[in-house]
Amino acid sequence: MIELHDVSVAVPVWGDGGRQRTKQLLTGVTASLPEQRVAVVGANGSGKSTLLRLLNGLITASAGRVLVDGIDPARDGKGARQRVGFVFTDPLSQLVMSTPADDIELSLRKRIRDRKERAARAQAVLDERGLGDVAHQSIYDLSGGERQLVSLATVLAIEPAIVVADEPTTLLDLRNRMDVCEALLGLPQQLLYATHDLDFAAQADRALVIQEGRLSFDGPAAEAISHYRGLMASGTRASGRGAPGAKAVGGA
Ligand SMILES: Nc1ncnc2c1ncn2[C@@H]1O[C@H](COP(=O)(O)OP(=O)(O)OP(=O)(O)O)[C@@H](O)[C@H]1O
Ligand SMILES: [Mg+2]
Repeated sequence: MIELHDVSVAVPVWGDGGRQRTKQLLTGVTASLPEQRVAVVGANGSGKSTLLRLLNGLITASAGRVLVDGIDPARDGKGARQRVGFVFTDPLSQLVMSTPADDIELSLRKRIRDRKERAARAQAVLDERGLGDVAHQSIYDLSGGERQLVSLATVLAIEPAIVVADEPTTLLDLRNRMDVCEALLGLPQQLLYATHDLDFAAQADRALVIQEGRLSFDGPAAEAISHYRGLMASGTRASGRGAPGAKAVGGA
């Protein structure tokens, strides 16, 4: 389960003349998320990626507490990364080897010491996701959808308990988007995903709306989306022109 207790993130930024100030990326976010599929929506710059990055210790809370199955990623980053698989928007920022098979083998190197066994497991992982045929193709020659599915396969190879995906379909066309959505939504693991695709968000069991670094709405996906549409229609942006009346609400 993912738990956020009054979590805030503030980072130092430097302005003209080297003057340092503090920028508030998240403020007082509280949510306990046992649901299988949780979406995070919000405008550009509202804090969605920041929220997701807290879960595997890519960024740490400056106040409050984050727990992933009882593990605090700020204290035990390694433990958190073993539990949380992170899928990035651009699979090329994730795939470091030249072919899907090599990439998955790299993920498996600590778990499976024997080379042959590791290669066989990598092939099996790709086969399971319908990617067996492209196992030895250059990752640069894969379609965007194939690349994202390989990226997901790489993450799943370490058998994480939770999958966190940051706009995993943004760079994809409709066909590939549908494939990646289906793959993600069909996972047995808990899935937490940020997206601007409101149809994708609508399929979550629960959705969080982030606005200006605060939890603006937390509840069933359909209600969250209509809350978000309302915010956007009222001209509220991430950058701070205010959202009169928008409040954090209780859990789903
Ligand atoms: N390390 C950092 N240092 C300074 N500012 C940062 C840092 N990381 C994020 N920000 C700022 O925090 C705000 C929230 O960023 P974040 O990436 O979480 O937004 P987002 O909701 O994911 O946006 P998008 O939909 O565009 O991906 C932005 O204004 C961004 O510039
Ligand atoms: Mg983002």
